[in-house]
Amino acid sequence: MLHTLFRSDQGGHEQVVLCQDRESGLKAVIAIHSTALGNALGGTRFYPYASEEAAVLDALNLSRGMSYKNALAGLDHGGGKAVIIGDPNQIKTEQLLLAYGRFVASLGGRYVTACDVGTYVQDMDVVARECRWTTGRSPENGGAGDSSVLTAFGVFQGMRAAAQTQWGEPTLRGRRVGVAGVGKVGHHLVEHLVEDGAEVVITDVRTEAVERILARHPQVTAVTDAGVLVRTPLDVYAPCALGGALDDDTVAALTASVVCGAANNQLAHPGVEKDLADRGILYAPDYVVNAGGVIQVADELHGFDFDRAKAKANQIFDTTLAIFDRAKADGIPPAAAADRLAEQRMAEARAAATSGATA
Ligand SMILES: NC(=O)c1ccc[n+]([C@@H]2O[C@H](COP(=O)([O-])OP(=O)(O)OC[C@H]3O[C@@H](n4cnc5c(N)ncnc54)[C@H](O)[C@@H]3O)[C@@H](O)[C@H]2O)c1
Repeated sequence: MLHTLFRSDQGGHEQVVLCQDRESGLKAVIAIHSTALGNALGGTRFYPYASEEAAVLDALNLSRGMSYKNALAGLDHGGGKAVIIGDPNQIKTEQLLLAYGRFVASLGGRYVTACDVGTYVQDMDVVARECRWTTGRSPENGGAGDSSVLTAFGVFQGMRAAAQTQWGEPTLRGRRVGVAGVGKVGHHLVEHLVEDGAEVVITDVRTEAVERILARHPQVTAVTDAGVLVRTPLDVYAPCALGGALDDDTVAALTASVVCGAANNQLAHPGVEKDLADRGILYAPDYVVNAGGVIQVADELHGFDFDRAKAKANQIFDTTLAIFDRAKADGIPPAAAADRLAEQRMAEARAAATSGATA
């Protein structure tokens, strides 16, 4: 763990804070990977970890991921993430969230928090009562609310960039797109695809989510599960449910030649990105195309303006194209090219700060 903290390939973390409030039962880890580009920004995960060590490791990994995501989203924010240890359904109380807010506030803005798995806009409203460095709040409390609209918009821009690279035109018109998971993000993505003239095939474990789309768009078809969907003839596969969607079996079975979806951590293990590239499948890195949500919460810090945030999410098209170009030029998979571009932006910021300090 200390190796991950101080000496990892990515240069280690800047700061890790362990927090405990005995009265409310709060146990939390706040990890700041980098502030090279600005205050660290990332959500709070509330999860029943198997051990405290597992929680710290998750915070370390997630905060590093946020540095890369924020860098490629063009945000002036570094990467941070917090985890609260425990089952939110059992221990989440107002008292605990307020205590958590005081810990975040004690960092004086080096870390800005938001929602993640297990935390919701209403929770951020509570945290914000103790901590001004809180975003992802409800519209009633000055926040921007649900981020899935801009997340879906950004994924669609990434998909257009993949279509441009793979087929020479930035449109999904006439393409067959399979969307696995039509929840908050997936259903908005289907709207963009239908409007663009794509043929859409969907699946979801929740029947009501599927029925809602079929009622609105009778031309959309549904299949029983994601295993069937990946084997259906497709041009594009869009994982929009859980992480780990791209494992060895899925990659071997995929009929699509583009993968672009909202789900976080789609690659089940290191090496999958190379298997995809070896099969000629163009993979749009998940953390790049699903950045619409973090773009929204970053915008909220300046008083939310939907059009301004949408314009920023629109840039995901150019960023995704730049990643595919870099991948081709360097002979590496797009996921590796994305990491290089993010590291480059952070290194340039550090160099500029150093030269400014010595000038
Ligand atoms: N909401 C955002 O702004 C945002 C931002 C960035 C990334 N993401 C990621 O995008 C993904 C979707 O997020 P969401 O907010 O739409 O979540 P959601 O819970 O609203 O939707 C997920 C959908 O996937 C379905 N699902 C779950 N397991 C499935 C399976 N095995 N096969 C098919 N469908 C399955 C669920 O029933 C649900 O309808 C998640 O991985 C999330 O981390 C979301």
